[in-house]
Amino acid sequence: MPKFYITTPIYYVNDKPHIGHAYTTIAADAIARWRRMCGDEVFFLVGTDENASKNADAARQRMDDSPSPLPFPSSGGEGVRQIVQQYVDEMSAKWRRTWDTLGITHNDFIRTTETRHIKAVEKFWRAVEEKGDIYLGTYTGLYCDGCEAYKTDSELEDGNCPDHKRAPRKIEEENYFFRASKYRDALLQHIKDNPDFIQPAERRHEVENYIKDHFEDVSISRQNQSWGIPIPETSSTYNLKPKTSHVIYVWFDALINYLTAVGYSNATNNPQPTTNNFLRWWPADLHLVGKDIIKFHCALWPAMLMSAGLPLPKRVFAHGFFTIQSEKISKTVGNVVDPVELAQKYGNDTLRFFLLNEFTFGDDGDFTLRRMEERYEGDLGNELGNLVLRTLAMIEQYFKGAVPADSPSKPALPYLEVWKQYCAHFDAMQFTKAIEVVWHLLREGNQTIDREKPWELAKTDATKLGRVLHGILLSLYHVAWMLAPVMPETSEKILAQLGFDPAVEKKKPLADIQGTQELPAGQKIKKGGPMFPRLNDKSAI
Ligand code: MSP
Repeated sequence: MPKFYITTPIYYVNDKPHIGHAYTTIAADAIARWRRMCGDEVFFLVGTDENASKNADAARQRMDDSPSPLPFPSSGGEGVRQIVQQYVDEMSAKWRRTWDTLGITHNDFIRTTETRHIKAVEKFWRAVEEKGDIYLGTYTGLYCDGCEAYKTDSELEDGNCPDHKRAPRKIEEENYFFRASKYRDALLQHIKDNPDFIQPAERRHEVENYIKDHFEDVSISRQNQSWGIPIPETSSTYNLKPKTSHVIYVWFDALINYLTAVGYSNATNNPQPTTNNFLRWWPADLHLVGKDIIKFHCALWPAMLMSAGLPLPKRVFAHGFFTIQSEKISKTVGNVVDPVELAQKYGNDTLRFFLLNEFTFGDDGDFTLRRMEERYEGDLGNELGNLVLRTLAMIEQYFKGAVPADSPSKPALPYLEVWKQYCAHFDAMQFTKAIEVVWHLLREGNQTIDREKPWELAKTDATKLGRVLHGILLSLYHVAWMLAPVMPETSEKILAQLGFDPAVEKKKPLADIQGTQELPAGQKIKKGGPMFPRLNDKSAI
């Protein structure tokens, strides 16, 4: 069985998830579901990035804001660690609950404070060190705490970080450095030889320019911090400067999560692909990220992997950012939208449909509640929900709720062709185009009813009536399956209403589904209520 390993970024836990984070995770979930439908064994990884100093700052802030603040131990050390650990435990659980509520089908949820991860980071550090790629140097420059990243003057706008609208801090400290620049040529060559490695293409050009012009050795440790993964004591570099407060730079630690989750720390030196979990899954097939973190994933990470002697991920896809009512999502602007609230009000599937369909995946876009409500009532209520409802109502009325027989000698229907288009769009992560294929079928269904007027056929031509309605039911069957990765609950509801047992259906190979040319005559349908009730009738949602 082919395997497919897909990841999302691991998110910082200094705040709760907002709709931007849900966007990446839902897109990854749709792809994971799609690959499962295609018959792949999928490993879908999500998680939380916990060793960042901004998480420790948030823990401190929460204590300061509490009605009876306890003093945050100023000397650092174990006291601080415990408080921050408790904070990240709670916040990580909140992220996990969010993905559960949104029906995300991840196979693993990794936390970077877990022992399995710390072991993996230590092993990785040693591998890079053995290669001679870690050295001690002095870092003098700028650091943006918001990005958890070093900045050059050319990356600033009016002296401020363009993403966080504040000036980075000046830092001068002795740090461990990773000899990233050594891999510059090899990286550029890899990108050239593998045009699909970075997608979409415009991002590839951005990364290439960055590597050519700005890719230098990276400082990979921070001094005087009590929160983070310490430099492994067994490493030879540790003895260069034994400082317990020296922790590993959070991005160097965080990226390794993709290896940890598939068993990197337990992989032996000479593993057999058949028995070793790590070699079965690594390299990842797809890292899905937002465009803000492409340099980390397409420059630093592959250089780290080259140094550690590991293969590079097959593909990194960076999607665009969306704004809300044309504003960047930010706590200061006060426009942070909670995905759980939206899902509770409109349903998980509506949120998924809207996020994946509002603009081309890869581009930037804007999000408005009004637009979401319009799509709910129009695309979902009027076009999808209504077609299901009125077709099934007619099956009840004219055929006692049983699927009518199809015409015995009909030409082959073009569903294979339709599926071909759909698959091509889905494989290219063109969700809007894949969904358009489905809506084309729905519009055809609605037009057929308007044109053929089954209520008149019922009086004149029962055979033709059966054929027309059977055709629409068949189309709905294909619609239900094409919706499965994007709107899984709706997909199951439609299949169940058509009289299928979704659990049994799910075991069918995709080729059988795609090749379905007629439904079992006589199968009892199970008409339900409106799937997308009108919004002013909210109690029904
Ligand atoms: N912890 C790092 C990632 C480490 S991965 C080894 C990080 N975390 S984050 O919490 O800041 O999440 C950034 C990601 O959240 C973006 O790459 C993107 O996937 C998602 N988004 C955050 N805001 C978004 C929008 N407004 N629009 C679209 N995606 C957004 O960076």
